[in-house]
Amino acid sequence: MAEASQGGKTGQSLSGQVATTSGQAAVAALPAVDSPQDYERLYRHSTCEGEAFWAEQARCIDWLRPFEQVKNVSYATEDLHIRWYEDGLLNVCVNCVDRHLATRRDKTAILWQGDAPADTRSISYGELHTQVCRLANGLQAQGIDSGDRVVIYMPMVPEAVFAMLACARIGAVHSVVFGGFSANALADRIIDCGAKMVITADAGVRGGKSIPLKANVDAALARAGTECVDAVLVLERSGADIAWQAGRDIWYHELVARQADRHSAAGVGAEHPLFVLYTSGSTGKPKGLQHCSGGYLVYAAATFRYVFDYREDDVYWCTADIGWITGHSYVVYGPLANGATTVMFEGVPNYPDLGRFGQIIDRYRVSLFYTAPTAVRTLMSDADAALAGSGRDSLRLLACAGEPINPGVWRWYSDAFGNGRCPVIDTWWQTETGGVMIAPLPKATALKPGSATRPFFGIEPQLVDANSDILTGAADGHLVILDAWPGQARTIWGDHQRFIDTYFSTHPGMYFTGDGARRDADGDYWITGRVDDVLNVSGHRLGTAEIESATVSHPAVAEAAVVGFPHPIKGEAIYIYATPVAGIEANTELTAELCAWVRKELGPVATPDRVQWTPGLPKTRSGKIMRRILRKIAADDFASLGDTSTLAEPGVVEELIAGRLNRA
Ligand code: WTA
Repeated sequence: MAEASQGGKTGQSLSGQVATTSGQAAVAALPAVDSPQDYERLYRHSTCEGEAFWAEQARCIDWLRPFEQVKNVSYATEDLHIRWYEDGLLNVCVNCVDRHLATRRDKTAILWQGDAPADTRSISYGELHTQVCRLANGLQAQGIDSGDRVVIYMPMVPEAVFAMLACARIGAVHSVVFGGFSANALADRIIDCGAKMVITADAGVRGGKSIPLKANVDAALARAGTECVDAVLVLERSGADIAWQAGRDIWYHELVARQADRHSAAGVGAEHPLFVLYTSGSTGKPKGLQHCSGGYLVYAAATFRYVFDYREDDVYWCTADIGWITGHSYVVYGPLANGATTVMFEGVPNYPDLGRFGQIIDRYRVSLFYTAPTAVRTLMSDADAALAGSGRDSLRLLACAGEPINPGVWRWYSDAFGNGRCPVIDTWWQTETGGVMIAPLPKATALKPGSATRPFFGIEPQLVDANSDILTGAADGHLVILDAWPGQARTIWGDHQRFIDTYFSTHPGMYFTGDGARRDADGDYWITGRVDDVLNVSGHRLGTAEIESATVSHPAVAEAAVVGFPHPIKGEAIYIYATPVAGIEANTELTAELCAWVRKELGPVATPDRVQWTPGLPKTRSGKIMRRILRKIAADDFASLGDTSTLAEPGVVEELIAGRLNRA
């Protein structure tokens, strides 16, 4: 294996100076994208000479052994494989940390803002290197090897980033689980990926409240058994009282205190898995999307640079939690690969008050700001409070992701929050895509409130109809991507067939996004939302099937169906229709109990908003629940229910309408 040794002068230059010069020089040699013509020219190059384009982008990161083969992809369902730069060797952590030491050792890598306004830390690239090396040594001392899985269940603190990078450094595969998921959800993920270690904190602190992370890990491991996980690394974050299992639990600070500041990092093949990240689908349990090392990093780094028009002196803040793909690609890997200063925030937009985002922007002079539409809607709900106490004049670009942003919210974000001075970059993408796929580029794309506009370089979106026929011109259809790109997920952990079935079978030969979209006469894309049974609640993806199975696991529930309904802040909210088991009387106590149950099963992210008890559900004669009807009733829009003649018992619908919980 190639060595990027940190041990002495030679090693330093291998992983530091030599590397830095090559990647930086490659970035400097790229053509600027300052006008619509520049975009058109580079887009044409990126799609007509795709391999050349992606080779140029890949040279912006440092390889321990250069690749020769750029692309090796087949979308054919009988032999589906996606490989980029497969003969290249690199270390993702060295790219995000070591290679900046020569030129950016004292530059701030992470600007951390704790939940409490007085709680702050600033971590330079030099310090980041020390911390990550110590932890990498510690993980290896604990017997973690290349390819082992490590689950990270942590609050938004720098140690969570150290943990991701330390895993990357030793070739271990991290799987970050969002702190808002329950012990059960955590157990499912631990079991599915066969984690050897869990890294957590005693408790998280968010919005002034404590989140019992360690207690959740204990409960998860009680369920998962001890077959795979043999160590739990615990960061002391809050000082909360926790249970301790000797022989299994290890204090983070004790482990790293014993380790050396330097660590010799080996290279991994470009296709070596970097992480597995779980996301919800329309059926079954969450799936672990597996991302690779080389192509993923190239894509995260390139999109970060172009989409945010990143410059060396920017202070960049993405508010996403690292438990989501946005946190992976645009809090950690994209910014750090570019040597940027990334702000990391532990708290929530409305604590201690709604002015928090603006205050943090002013305090750190944030120039690039990336958040979710749901956060913007939260701010808008009390605009005076949200804008009070900050001028936000350091901003030069605003961006958003995760769900559709409606034009009114877009305008408020631009005019009020951004003082009318910043472009709003609406980025469409997914856990599966690894990075931004459709978005305007700040200096090269005409903005349209509510539209994600144009594809990123190398991305070929299309709209298709139910027969997989490509629609031309202005059209409305299923959004597909025709060809591969380096950042896309390679498979579903442990279930390649499910990967093929989910993404490459509906429209053969194309990647199917699960979203619908419209293309206008100018060729700009407008995402219309999921076309499957996946909800988007406050920008979080939740499968209705998962919520249904959590609901029916309650002993008082015989049957349930879950749909989304429009919600002014969350975008979409959870509406449960439930049938009690015979002899049980549904009342408000049972409703409260059921909500608490689902919350405990899946986590606070999946707290139901409405529970309507019903003696029956509308079904076809073959027994299929007619969700279309349930969605309409939940939205209080039942004037045109469409064809109900196929229902087994049409009377059920009248009853559901009479008992509906949302009324204008
Ligand atoms: C939705 C988040 C409209 C979409 C990065 C997608 C969006 C799902 C946008 C992926 C956007 C994401 N406009 N809808 N700009 N961005 N979505 O995996 O339905 O958490 O399929 O990735 O969010 O959610 P995920």
